[in-house]
Amino acid sequence: MTVATTPARLAVLISGSGSNLQALIDHIESGNLNAEIAVVISNKADAYGLQRAQKHNIQREVIPASRIESRQNYDQRLATIIDQYDTDVILLAGFMRILSDEFVNRYLGRMLNIHPSLLPKHKGLNTHQRALEAGDKQHGASVHFVTPTLDDGPIIMQAAIDIQPEDTNDSLAGRILKEEHKLYAEALKLYLDERIKFSNGNVLFDNKSLTTPLILGA
Ligand code: GRF
Repeated sequence: MTVATTPARLAVLISGSGSNLQALIDHIESGNLNAEIAVVISNKADAYGLQRAQKHNIQREVIPASRIESRQNYDQRLATIIDQYDTDVILLAGFMRILSDEFVNRYLGRMLNIHPSLLPKHKGLNTHQRALEAGDKQHGASVHFVTPTLDDGPIIMQAAIDIQPEDTNDSLAGRILKEEHKLYAEALKLYLDERIKFSNGNVLFDNKSLTTPLILGA
């Protein structure tokens, strides 16, 4: 017999469309994830993801950045809101801000990010174009623990696709996003089930060091 545990409380941080947020909402509503979204936070008031959250009666907070405010100060405000909602896990889902070391360290081991490349390749922006320009045969997305260096934290799981000769930036973006929507939920599920843990800068999978990322669907 499995004992039902209290759903984990998630904070999902977005800046834009929020299609990954939508996928998480759908997985939760269909019972695939033992979690609830306690709050969706956006640094942009016009992020479409906020409307998605509203449709599902999820709490929303907009924290716009001002040009004169320091990163530390912004991140302090962000942390205050996250903590007010008593959250267990922080999920970056297209949140387009660099986070301070203090912020990252406060949530170390319980903050995940999804990045549209097969990390460690193509950290940062414009990953689809860069994969094409590099002549990569494969491209994909990665879910990783967030550490202070951008897109550098230990990788939990990846989804890969073969790049086709006719692929463009847009076609790759669309195909990868579809993979992301399965990948984030799958990696999160392992984390919530405590099969994935963060330990001394590494990923443990079933209490053993994970030397290569898990592959979605493998
Ligand atoms: C995704 O490609 C994600 O990997 C990246 O930002 C994009 C967010 O897309 N970090 P969406 O807002 O979830 O549709």
